[in-house]
Amino acid sequence: MKLVSTLLATSIAAFGSSQVMAYEAGDIMVKAGVINVAPKNDNASITGVGKVQVKDDTQLGLTGTYMVTPQIGIEVLAATPFKHKIELDNGSTSTIGTTKHLPPTVSAQYYPMDPSSAIQPYVGAGLNMTFFFDEADAVKGNALGPLGDSFGLSVSAGINYDIDDKFLANVAIWYIDIDTELEGSNAALGKDYDVEIDPLVFMAGVGYKF
Ligand code: NI
Repeated sequence: MKLVSTLLATSIAAFGSSQVMAYEAGDIMVKAGVINVAPKNDNASITGVGKVQVKDDTQLGLTGTYMVTPQIGIEVLAATPFKHKIELDNGSTSTIGTTKHLPPTVSAQYYPMDPSSAIQPYVGAGLNMTFFFDEADAVKGNALGPLGDSFGLSVSAGINYDIDDKFLANVAIWYIDIDTELEGSNAALGKDYDVEIDPLVFMAGVGYKF
């Protein structure tokens, strides 16, 4: 009987600890990891010049989530500045410049699983603000103007896995509508050109729950 009571005590303890892992209103999760911004293909077409492609970049991503209820969270996505190569395809491909940007994104999230589950998939929808800076011509004299700020919608999805009651592993993806303009202040452009970056953003990392 001692064995049975020990097993019983152990399983009660295990059950108790799984309850501790439950998501609760007021929980704060902070996650860090590698984050990649992969723009869609064919970001702009400049008359008489060619097609513009913004290349992908990987940085350190950070997210913070505040649980408003056990199943609804508010997430803020931040990262160290991304630096993208900009290529021009006019028959052959060449790098015409670079740009840096910060894409802070605020999302409302829904966690459909029972709050006591160790695996927590979620979906989100939100608002992105992208600020471009440090645009640089790779080749002097090329037609690269500044890029305007972008405000757009985002959708996201991810999975948290509770390693214990404090640490978790996370993978996440966002689709962000980032539409900017290559501004025609540069005489070689003559007018503004729409640039649709509309990237997929992937992040994989670890988190800590407060
Ligand atoms: Ni777009």
